[in-house]
Formats: sequence, C-alpha cells, structure tokens
Amino acid sequence: MISHQPGLLEIRGLHTEIPARGRIVRPARGLDLTLYRNECLGVAGESGCGKTMLLLSIIRLLPRRAAITAGSIIFEEKDLVGLSASEMRAVRGRRIAMAFQEPMTALNPVLSIGSQVMESIRLHRRLTRHHAKRRAVELLADLRIPDPERRLDQYPHELSGGMRQRVMLATSIASKPSIILADEPTSSLDVTVQAQIIRLLSALQKQYQISLVFVSHDLALLSQLCHRIAIMYLGRIVEVGTAEEIVTHPRHPYTRALLECIPPLPGERPTRDTAEAKGKLFREVAGELPGPADAIPGCQFHPRCPIAIDRCGIDNPSLHRPTQTHQVACLLAS
Ligand SMILES: Nc1ncnc2c1ncn2[C@@H]1O[C@H](COP(=O)(O)OP(=O)(O)OP(=O)(O)O)[C@@H](O)[C@H]1O
Ligand SMILES: [Mg+2]
Repeated sequence: MISHQPGLLEIRGLHTEIPARGRIVRPARGLDLTLYRNECLGVAGESGCGKTMLLLSIIRLLPRRAAITAGSIIFEEKDLVGLSASEMRAVRGRRIAMAFQEPMTALNPVLSIGSQVMESIRLHRRLTRHHAKRRAVELLADLRIPDPERRLDQYPHELSGGMRQRVMLATSIASKPSIILADEPTSSLDVTVQAQIIRLLSALQKQYQISLVFVSHDLALLSQLCHRIAIMYLGRIVEVGTAEEIVTHPRHPYTRALLECIPPLPGERPTRDTAEAKGKLFREVAGELPGPADAIPGCQFHPRCPIAIDRCGIDNPSLHRPTQTHQVACLLAS
C-alpha cells in the first residue's frame, strides 16, 4: 500500500515568496506533498496556481529574489531547503533531474547531442570517453531514437521537436536520478508525438525505477499515466489520491470543478452531466483565480466554492485522510 511506504521526497508546510512590484507573490502557501519510490505522481491545477514554482522550489531554481520562507523538503534524509548552493549542485541534475516543456531551454544549441548526453552520463559515473559514448548510444536507443550513432554528431536544431524532447529526456535520465520533475514536457508537441512521448516516459519510469512528478493541465492524460494525482490550488495541495480515487471519487469541490472541465473523449457520448451537455464545451472553473499576492482568510478556494459555509472563510483546513491513500483539505469533505 503506497501510504505505508516511507516517502522518497516529503514536502511539509512549504511557503515561497517573490517580491514583485511592491507586492509579495506567494506561489506556495503551506504546501504538503509526499512522493513515493517508483511512482508517477501527476500534479494538476489551473494556470497560475503554482505548479512550476513547486518544481523549481524542489530543485532550488526559483527566480531571483524568490525565497522559501518556511517549510521543509526532505530528500534522502536531508532538508533541501537548508542545503548550500554547492551541496544543492550535487543533487540537482544528478539525483533530481528536471524535464522542461520546451527542450531548447534545456539543450545547448552549440554542443552536439553526443557531447550533451555524454556529459550527463559522466555526472553519474566516471567513464572513459569510449564507454560514455557506448552508453550514450544505448540511452538514445532506449529513448527509441532511430539511428542513435549518427545522432551523436548532430546538433539540437537538426532534430524535430519530438526528437529534441527525447534527447532532453535522455540527458535527464543519463545520470540515473531517483526523481524526474517533468513540467508539461509534451505540451509543445503535436498530439500524436505527445502520445508517443507519454508512453515512452511511462516505460522509462518503470525501466529505470524513477519517481516521476508530471505536471499537466490535462487530468484525462494524468489519469492514464499516473499512479496518483495531486490537485493544486493557489499554492496548496487540496486533494491527493490514486488516479482512480481522484477521477471517480473526487472529494474536494475544486477537483470536481476541474473534472467538469474535461471535454468528453472523441466518440464518448455526452451525458446530461457533462460540460458539453450544458452547452459549454470548454467549461472553465467558475470565478477567477485570485491574484497571486492576494491574502485570503480561511480556505483559499472558499470565494469560488459552490458549497462554502461561513466557517470556510475562517478556517484553512489541512489535509485529512478519508482513506489510506486519499487525502483532502476541505471542511465539508468526509
Ligand atoms: N518571476 C516571478 N515574479 C513574480 N511572480 C511570479 C514569477 N514567476 C511566477 N510568478 C507567479 O507565481 C504564481 C505561480 O506561477 P507558476 O508559474 O508556478 O504557475 P503554474 O501553475 O505553473 O501555471 P501554468 O499552468 O500557466 O504553467 C503565478 O501567479 C505567477 O504569476
Ligand atoms: Mg507552469
């Protein structure tokens, strides 16, 4: 049972702040999340709710002037929040790697594919050039890149978007990290290539026994790819559970609202409950996400919540556990 395993990464009470134009933006507002070994954990939530900032907090690559002001991120018995810049460099890229939405931001345009993949391999193991090259060819083949030997001499601009994304994933996996943080890694690709990369990621997660955190707006995609899904709202995780629990038994009103935004799959008949039946194909969660610097008393979702009661404007509920695998932060959810 997932909940009985010790967490590989334990985030507790995380707060981050970014001073911006005389205001303080708060991308994390008391965030709790556990990542287990060998799992794929999806993170979903509206644009601006803090998903990218969460991943950047874990690898300590927050924007300049941003700071973690409270909380802990425990990984391999160390609190990443307290590590010095040089201690953090030993973790980042080696033990925890990041896969970005746009591979060109992660790949160096003036270095060949081979030298970039080999450099990542050597972060993990001291290998001779000959052995590193052999391993690079194996890795590119694992990423289903055709003709891997020839690719080593090519440069990022010579590859298609899908192939670049595969090479970027190869550099992430090369150092045998135990965690990969993937921030919408397929959203810049077209739909068929997206599906191939998703299948590949899922296979690699198992083959390399990696814990994968996969951020996406797409709950339907996450439910196919991930073991568990965490729902994020304005700097907090408001619900987390197995993919099945989240999709078929959502307990937080925000999760239910997000699920109503999923348009029916092609060929699926709309039911009376679906957004399409209500005449709104791409329904949005009612109301707007508050500004990132707004201080909201009580539950952060209560101003938009269809079932809020007076107490919701006063108490900010922590996650409680209705089942062994399911956690929800709502006063009204049992
Ligand atoms: N450098 C910055 N300075 C000030 N505010 C920032 C900065 N970077 C991000 N923010 C704010 O932090 C909040 C969280 O941003 P974040 O990028 O994590 O959202 P997100 O959930 O990843 O959104 P999306 O789904 O659009 O990628 C947003 O309100 C954003 O405007
Ligand atoms: Mg983002």
